[in-house]
Amino acid sequence: MSLWGGRFSEPSDEDLRRLNDSIGFDRALYAEDIAGSIAYARALAAAGVLAADEVKAIVAGLQQVLAEFDNDIFTLMPADEDIHTAVERRLIELVGDVGGKLHTGRSRNDQVATDFRLWSMRAVDRLLSDLRQLQTALVEMAERHIDCVMPGYTHLQPAQPITAAHWLLSYFWMLERDVDCLVSARDRMAVCPLGAGALAGTPLSIDRHALANSLGFRRPSENSLDAVSDRDFVADLLYACALCAAHLSRLAEDILIYSNPAFAFISLDDRYSTGSSLMPQKRNADPMELMRGKTGRLIGNLSGFLSTLKSLPSGYNKDLQEDKEALFDSLDALARLLPVMSASIRSLQINAQAMAAALTEDLLATDLADYLVRKGLPFRQAHHAVGMVVRRAGELSVELSALPLAELQGINPLFAPDVEAVFDFAQSVAQRRAFGGTAPTAVREQIALAKQRLAGQER
Ligand code: ARG
Repeated sequence: MSLWGGRFSEPSDEDLRRLNDSIGFDRALYAEDIAGSIAYARALAAAGVLAADEVKAIVAGLQQVLAEFDNDIFTLMPADEDIHTAVERRLIELVGDVGGKLHTGRSRNDQVATDFRLWSMRAVDRLLSDLRQLQTALVEMAERHIDCVMPGYTHLQPAQPITAAHWLLSYFWMLERDVDCLVSARDRMAVCPLGAGALAGTPLSIDRHALANSLGFRRPSENSLDAVSDRDFVADLLYACALCAAHLSRLAEDILIYSNPAFAFISLDDRYSTGSSLMPQKRNADPMELMRGKTGRLIGNLSGFLSTLKSLPSGYNKDLQEDKEALFDSLDALARLLPVMSASIRSLQINAQAMAAALTEDLLATDLADYLVRKGLPFRQAHHAVGMVVRRAGELSVELSALPLAELQGINPLFAPDVEAVFDFAQSVAQRRAFGGTAPTAVREQIALAKQRLAGQER
């Protein structure tokens, strides 16, 4: 018998039950469901709905149900359609009819919304700790490569020299925005729907502020009709997960490119590389491809769930049951991806020689234009002159520094013998020392800031 069977003369069709039941996945909410019920039982007692001995019996019963789940000895029954009905059914078995008083004034609509918010708040904490690990790995690796110069790219074409530390730290800051996004999402989701009833609120004199606080929420929801169907917090988290995955996917793409033998800037540790069943020489970065691949799925979870939300009429609708699998899937994926990315970064080999060998003088073309600017030429003219220098070097098949001074002066008379000093990659990098630049001095400042963030300051 289901908990709502009174008005029905026939049991549900088997196929409908398979479609309707959510216990297969919402069992994951058992701890939050029981915590919500214990707080609610106490609120009912405070409102004079439950006597002292009744609330005592209910709380003890719920604690026993919790122990059964924790120890994996909870036995599901065919009528347990979701976690809420399963817990209540077992409570009544354990404590008798008094257990049937727990649901007074409550609906599964405010109950599930409360449970899932509580669960999501805890999930954010787990995700933040995985993110912090990866950020720490990036900072530690960056610290060891502050003076290591490599080509930087725009449009994946050689652009300007940068330091390897600067490259690694660029991902630290992307992930820092993910942390910010998650922290503010957690803040916004800390609003308690319990007491909203099915849609209209509760007739009982429940102190919803006290109830919300007792569960760790900031405040109760302001509108019961909105509260039961508000899943913005799920959309927020799905977005935060998708964006975080997009950041991992970009890092993965860099690692795939830079570990290609044509670049050979880095190599992944054996433990994070895979081979081919046919080609003995192969060393593939499959984990990075999985980062990229899973990202598509996480973006799908977000857009899929937004589509679920968009046409719902007011109040709770069963469509909302789709919220859980989508969010579980996105969070599970990140829980698998983040530790692998952290370990891959920690064990990354950075090949400074290969990076240095890839530094071609065209990367210094901007520095050459800056040289003319220092001699008084407006930048636009300097840019044009250096463009001609690059073309001339190409025609003569020589590096920029090998062009005779006479050739340079033929293009612009401001070129002088001191132009030689421009052809120094370390010097190019060292000049970009304004805040946020790639110079080792600026990168040291950047690392200090990153460490402050990791230590929980400067938020
Ligand atoms: N399993 C349901 C869900 O996840 C619980 C709420 C059911 N409420 C209802 N009125 N049928 O949304």
